[in-house]
Amino acid sequence: WILILDYGSQYTQLIARRVRELSVYCEIHPFNKDLSDFKDQPPQGIILSGGPKSVNDEDAPGLNTEIFGWDVPVLGICYGLQILAHVEIPGSVEKADRREFGRSDLIVDDSTDLFQNIPQESVVWMSHGDHIKELSADYEIIAHTDNARVAAVRHKQKQLFGVQFHPEVVHTVYGKQIVRNFVNKICKLEGTWTAQSFIESTVEEIRERVGDARVLCGLSGGVDSTVVATLVHKAIGDQLQCIFVDNGLLRKNEFQDVLDLYEEELHLPVKGVDASDRFLDGLEGVFDPEKKRKIIGNIFIDVFDDIVEGDNDFKFLAQGTLYPDVIESISFKGPSATIKSHHNVGGLPEEMNLALVEPVRELFKDEVRNVGRQLGIPDHFIKRHPFPGPGLGIRIISDVTKEKLDLLREVDDIFISELRQQDLYDEVWQALAVLLPVQSVGVMGDERTYEFTAALRAVTSVDGMTADWAHLPHPFLAHVSNRIINEVPGINRVVYDVSSKPPSTIEWE
Ligand code: XMP
Repeated sequence: WILILDYGSQYTQLIARRVRELSVYCEIHPFNKDLSDFKDQPPQGIILSGGPKSVNDEDAPGLNTEIFGWDVPVLGICYGLQILAHVEIPGSVEKADRREFGRSDLIVDDSTDLFQNIPQESVVWMSHGDHIKELSADYEIIAHTDNARVAAVRHKQKQLFGVQFHPEVVHTVYGKQIVRNFVNKICKLEGTWTAQSFIESTVEEIRERVGDARVLCGLSGGVDSTVVATLVHKAIGDQLQCIFVDNGLLRKNEFQDVLDLYEEELHLPVKGVDASDRFLDGLEGVFDPEKKRKIIGNIFIDVFDDIVEGDNDFKFLAQGTLYPDVIESISFKGPSATIKSHHNVGGLPEEMNLALVEPVRELFKDEVRNVGRQLGIPDHFIKRHPFPGPGLGIRIISDVTKEKLDLLREVDDIFISELRQQDLYDEVWQALAVLLPVQSVGVMGDERTYEFTAALRAVTSVDGMTADWAHLPHPFLAHVSNRIINEVPGINRVVYDVSSKPPSTIEWE
């Protein structure tokens, strides 16, 4: 496996993605991680990430030279390269006269190992303010650019490499090949880490850990919790009990459709719990988005508490935590502001006294999807758009009532089913409808109307962190708008959201 030491680069997760794409397992840890944690199974290769600091800063993150004790190949990227140079000759890295950001032409001087099968000239992505002024005699230069004499280096005796550019980003045209050369050729790691091997070892681990105890799993109707439940079910059968809560904030027919899928197609032991009144009561008269989120989260916890209290056999709670949530990446920006307090059905508290089973906590979202496919979860389910835990509760911009929910369910249903029908559903990352508290004047027949406004939003995205509004065809939007206004009493105006994230967010609340 490959150890990625994080120096705070915004691209660190991308390095992991590139390695995983080669079916080789890797983990991201902070640069100052205690390496004795890995003594039982040391990594077979190490990648040092980039980072926002300069190695000359007083508080610059350093290199734990114990890594050399493992005698495995090391690849330093950007800051990673500079820190390698800096430990050889302190002061050898300095501020460049010309900072280099963006595309640059790499000229390869030696293509025996790291640059095998890469043209002599190719486009790479640079992003640095410092450069290497003086290189230790133990290193040789294996690539340069017009602007940087030292664009890539190799140690003359040891398997140590460094690149000034970022092979992990797509703009580096041969970046994948460079990572492949490092992982497959230099570290000699074959791609054996596949969805199937993951399933086999994970099922075995769950079985061993759980023994004959019972496991509770909250299903959300989303891919992550479904994959988790399916894995746990494969391991321990009906010692698993799944719960799918109707919080009254689900889409039209969602509760029954998803329950049917769980029972009939996936054969999961699932209990549907109708708690919609509890949620609606709790939300009565609440306008503030953050308050709504907190209330919904707390009621979820209460519902689960009630189930556990009634049955002492439950010792574990299975949940669909993903890798991006657990990476202990370092951040030099300090604590980030709470934009929205995200809530998942899984985010249940420690007081419940249940141990956590988190079988996909090492996976990225698309890896979870692959595992899901391999587990036989139908494709139409795997490709479902994300849906937030607080559901339609945060898509009604005012207080939540049953009437507004029913109205929004109709609007949403028309939008989503038209997307499916016109083969646009898979083209967008997420689509949703929002009920605005804005009333406006319209005319229907010869009558004046004064009704509410529905906003439609569809976005393209890779991970939900950034997103662009989807450029859906105008005839499609016209058709959907027409249907909504004609078929949903109470709505006389439809608008389409053309904001990207940032600065907007995907959900309106
Ligand atoms: P935002 O609105 O923050 O949303 O741009 C990014 C993605 O996260 C989803 N989302 C949530 N998912 N619990 C969830 O499970 C939440 O509380 C929550 N809030 C937003 C949102 O639908 C989008 O996919």
